[in-house]
Amino acid sequence: MNPMNPMNHPIQACLFDLDGVLVDTAKYHFLAWERLANELGFSFTEKDNERLKGVSRMASLEILLSVGNIQLDELTKMTLAEKKNSWYVDYISKMDDTEILPGALAFLQELKQHGIKIALGSASKNAMTILNNANLVPYFDAIIDGTKTTNAKPDPEVFILGAKEVHIAPEHCVVFEDAEAGIEAAIRGGMRTIGIGSADTLTLADYVVSSLAEMSVEKLQRIMSTAT
Ligand code: G6P
Ligand code: MG
Repeated sequence: MNPMNPMNHPIQACLFDLDGVLVDTAKYHFLAWERLANELGFSFTEKDNERLKGVSRMASLEILLSVGNIQLDELTKMTLAEKKNSWYVDYISKMDDTEILPGALAFLQELKQHGIKIALGSASKNAMTILNNANLVPYFDAIIDGTKTTNAKPDPEVFILGAKEVHIAPEHCVVFEDAEAGIEAAIRGGMRTIGIGSADTLTLADYVVSSLAEMSVEKLQRIMSTAT
C-alpha cells in the first residue's frame, strides 16, 4: 500500500450537501424557479433546472434569466430573487422529517456509531430551517451553509471550512453531492467524492449511487480504499 496515495486513506469525515442529498428540497427550488419563470412569461424545464443545482440564489437567477433571454437591472433582480425565496420558504416551512431522502437517516446514524465526523456543506441560506424542521441538527459536528461562505460552489470554500471545523484533513474527507458544481468544489478542496444521482451527469465523481440507501460504512471504506 502506497501511503502517498489518497485512495489508501480511510475516511474520517463525511461532508454532505443538503438539497437533493439529505432532503427532498430540490423539488421545491424547482417549483419556485418555475413559478418565477412562468410569471416572467417563459417556461423552465427540469432539464434547465439541473444547471441550478448547487448554485447560489443570485447565480441561479442569472441562469434562469438567460434561459428566458431577459435582461434586468440589479434592483429588479434582487426583488425577483427575494420573491422566489419567499415561495421557497413557504414550501420548506411546512416540511418535516418525512422529506428526508431514503437511507440518509440510517447512514448518518451508522457514521455516528463509527465515530466518523459529519459536516454539512450547503450553499443554502435556508439550511438551518430545513435541518430544524427535519430534526437533523443533532447529527452534525459542523454546519457550514450559505450564511457562512462568500464563494459559491464550484469554489471549495464550503467544504474546506467544514473539514477545518471537524479537524480532519481533506484526504480523509468524502463529500456527498448531487450537483456537478459540488463535486467539482470537493475535488478542488482535495477531497474524495460520492455522487448522488446519475453517473451520466456526475461524471467527475469517484463513485455514484442513486441514493444514500446504497451506502454503509463498510461500503464507504471499501470504495474509498480501492483505486477506481
Ligand atoms: C443549494 C441548492 C440550490 C440553491 C442554493 C441556495 O445549493 O442546490 O438550488 O439555489 O442552495 O439556496 P437558498 O436557499 O439560499 O436560496
Ligand atoms: Mg444539492
